[in-house]
Amino acid sequence: MAEKSSAQLIFIPSPGMGHLVAAVEMANLLLDRDDYLSVTMILIRLPSQLDVSAYVDNLSVSAPTDMSERIEFIDLFKLDGYDSSAETNPGFVKTLFIESQKAQVRNVVAEIVRSNSVRPGSPRLAGFVIDMFCTTMIDVANEFGAPTYMFYASSAAFLGLMFFLQSRKDEHDMDATEFKNDPDAELAVPSFHLPVPASALPYLVVEKSCAPFLLQHTRRTREVKGIMVNSFQELESHAITSLCDGVLPKVYPVGPVLNLNRDCISSRMLSSGTHLILKWLDDQPNSSVVFLCFGSMGSLHEDQVKEIAYALEHCGLRFLWSLRRPPQKAKNLTYESPGVYENPREVLPEGFIDRTAERGRVIGWAPQVDILSHPAIGGFVSHCGWNSILESLWFGVPIATLPLHAEQHLNAFEMVKELGLSVEIKLDYKSGFYCDNDRTVVGAQEIEEGILRLMVHDSDVRKRVKEMSEKGRKVVMEGGSSYSSLGHLVNDLFNNF
Ligand SMILES: *[C@@H]1O[C@H](CO)[C@@H](O)[C@H](O)[C@H]1NC(C)=O
Ligand SMILES: *[C@@H]1O[C@H](CO)[C@@H](O)[C@H](O)[C@H]1NC(C)=O
Repeated sequence: MAEKSSAQLIFIPSPGMGHLVAAVEMANLLLDRDDYLSVTMILIRLPSQLDVSAYVDNLSVSAPTDMSERIEFIDLFKLDGYDSSAETNPGFVKTLFIESQKAQVRNVVAEIVRSNSVRPGSPRLAGFVIDMFCTTMIDVANEFGAPTYMFYASSAAFLGLMFFLQSRKDEHDMDATEFKNDPDAELAVPSFHLPVPASALPYLVVEKSCAPFLLQHTRRTREVKGIMVNSFQELESHAITSLCDGVLPKVYPVGPVLNLNRDCISSRMLSSGTHLILKWLDDQPNSSVVFLCFGSMGSLHEDQVKEIAYALEHCGLRFLWSLRRPPQKAKNLTYESPGVYENPREVLPEGFIDRTAERGRVIGWAPQVDILSHPAIGGFVSHCGWNSILESLWFGVPIATLPLHAEQHLNAFEMVKELGLSVEIKLDYKSGFYCDNDRTVVGAQEIEEGILRLMVHDSDVRKRVKEMSEKGRKVVMEGGSSYSSLGHLVNDLFNNF
């Protein structure tokens, strides 16, 4: 056997902070596991995404030195000849925008390969690692004769659903958009035990203008050499097993891949306010505080905000609520992040803050990991983004579900019905079918009942969450299922090029 040579991976995450952070964590996991690996991360971002730029600048400065030598960031936006014309493209912006960056990515990789070839001892190109929206980059990898892998930052169950819907369309010409008007229909999806209600399907797969893009990504996902899924065998055993059918690309459950050591992001955002929040939590009894947070892209309409406030006021429990202002509509829906209210009193019921001052706090941006890890937190009212689910499982904090968009309804369904690991406030089947404008409102009473169930001290859900938390921490340690799956992946990375 030849001596092991260094291998270089080209990571291409899609635009957006969440995608980037997930990719960086995955890259770090690989670098940490094998000293012969190096990573070049190609950043596709909109000029307006300054947070991404600041994050990367800081990462390059603050990463641990032994690893920072093996990871490099190339920000396409900072290169000459950057083409931002696609930014105003209508339609499924992200896909089109990524597509428009292909030539630029090709140039960057060609330069990497060229400079490797003239420097003795340089690593060889071992493959591309893309995320679920960057499948067009498979073409670029193919041109360089490199295998492509995918890092899938969502659940194995969702991955299974997408493969199911795509083959249903391509082999049987059955279109999921028909479910848009039939939310009571049920689907037998191989990655779920239970029939999946059509109402839990992501809006993007039932909406005619988006579904073709998503199906096309899924079609192309079949071409990749392997898929790293941010999940673990003990959590999604049925879904993961369903994906190992010998036909689909090899699946490596390597999760939970979490951004627990998020100094780089939070130090930028950590204001003195955050310290006050944590200090306030220090003064609360263990497991007594409900934490409400709806993700970096999640914001609620004023009507919904008021219903939550009524529920919190009426239930009498301690709470910490990360309240974000909906993004200003207009320009570019996909990329606009929610803002912070200068004065949350504008949207809260009059007097709410004063009446609950003894037991509650309303904050803007929340350092979610710091909060979830705090012993005072007893439950989490969440939008059910997959990453938030994994974080709260890690810290053994049960969730009450209030999904908003993307695949969050499916995640909520999986957590509540399939796995019994969350409490239902709403799987809110219908909300997934409407654009933000005409979303139905979940009433205060329903929210309060959910929160009260969530905060029951010795509930079965809480026990199961604690057990899953322990399993989740074991799987990433030596001998654990994700640990060994990562080992297989690293071996395959070296054997496939
Ligand atoms: C970068 O991160 C370090 C700590 O990791 C922090 O001290 C510093 O303020 C950050 N700088 C910026 C510009 O965010
Ligand atoms: C609260 O939780 C912390 C951390 O788990 C623990 O050390 C402490 O003993 C607990 N306090 C009480 C009063 O149970």
